[in-house]
Amino acid sequence: MHALVTGAAGFIGSHVACRLAREGWAVRAVDALTPYYDPLIKRRNLDLVRSAGVDDLVVQDLADDPVEPLLDGIDVVFHLAAQPGVRPSWTTFETYIRQNVSVTHRLLEAVIAHPVQRFVYASSSSVYGQVMASVSEEAPTQPHSPYGVTKLAAEHLCGAYAANHGVPTVSLRLFTVYGPRQRPDMAFQRLIQAAVEGTPFEVYGDGAQVRAFTYVGDVVDAMRLAAQHDTQPGTMMNISGGSTCTLREAVGEVERATGREIDVRYTVRQLGDVDRTDASISRAESLLGWAPQVPLSQGIGWQVEDVVTSGRVGTRD
Ligand code: NAD
Ligand code: UGA
Repeated sequence: MHALVTGAAGFIGSHVACRLAREGWAVRAVDALTPYYDPLIKRRNLDLVRSAGVDDLVVQDLADDPVEPLLDGIDVVFHLAAQPGVRPSWTTFETYIRQNVSVTHRLLEAVIAHPVQRFVYASSSSVYGQVMASVSEEAPTQPHSPYGVTKLAAEHLCGAYAANHGVPTVSLRLFTVYGPRQRPDMAFQRLIQAAVEGTPFEVYGDGAQVRAFTYVGDVVDAMRLAAQHDTQPGTMMNISGGSTCTLREAVGEVERATGREIDVRYTVRQLGDVDRTDASISRAESLLGWAPQVPLSQGIGWQVEDVVTSGRVGTRD
């Protein structure tokens, strides 16, 4: 099988590319190495992708450069390239539209000319917005941040191209993903950095926000299964870690995993941040036979180990 992995130098994309290559897939990995966070971190991720056996590495901007040649000979597209990050999306919205909406549109157009067996799109829990309890895919979508708006718009594009052109899209709504190589702007990577370096960690708000944290290896499993299963074009499904915890509890988990006390400081809550994410995963269970395997304490342990052994803490942006 031949895969195109977009965003392959990023956190989740690099895991997808590595796993596929190790399982014998021929992988074309593409990334623009955008400056959302230090491109040096992305270059190190690409080195790991190369070490896993991928030699077809393409550094190109999917918003500008021709994308059709990338699809030549490809069976499955794993589309992870994006401008991530909930909180910065208020100030650089044009970039979010470009990287999240236009890039997805360009890829879907190109897929019409170069049909694929499956187009797996990395959607987001942020399409739901504020929720009171565990959400199923039938729950209303009302994004709470400009980022969420662009992720939902791209998901709707996947739906429109599925309905009109039969593009076999499947959108996986990922819930706060963590694990080795996590982006340096995300909570666990910053918490581990704070524990290891003895620097303060700023909690946005009171720390009572709840997240359904999801281990990156479980996300890769879901993407692999989504590529293999013949779901109805346009299907979307939740991919979530299976349990929830508050940010305060997450701080405690990192303290236990590192054996260090973290200097926690409380600051203002950030615009766009939701109080809670929590998902029903019964659709992914029934359509893909997927369920998360890695409990939070184990996944955090592996992320801590990765930071300590690689020194890959990244910059505080
Ligand atoms: P990431 O920033 O580490 O990876 C995204 C990659 O896309 C980056 O390496 C970036 O350089 C690349 N990229 C951006 N614009 C591009 C363009 N125009 N052309 C080529 N490459 C481009 O982010 P991540 O956390 O690994 O997220 C991967 C995907 O999963 C994104 O689509 C994100 O929205 C989605 N997602 C992530 C999470 C999470 O918790 N990390 C949760 C839900 C959804
Ligand atoms: C994450 C990803 O960053 C998004 O790309 C993704 O789309 C989203 O998950 C999702 O599930 O769809 P978020 O839940 O904000 O977004 O994940 P973190 O950045 O790890 O933050 C978790 C919580 O910790 C948030 O409430 C955040 O405000 C808080 N936080 C984060 C802090 O208090 N301090 C920090 O320095 C960083």
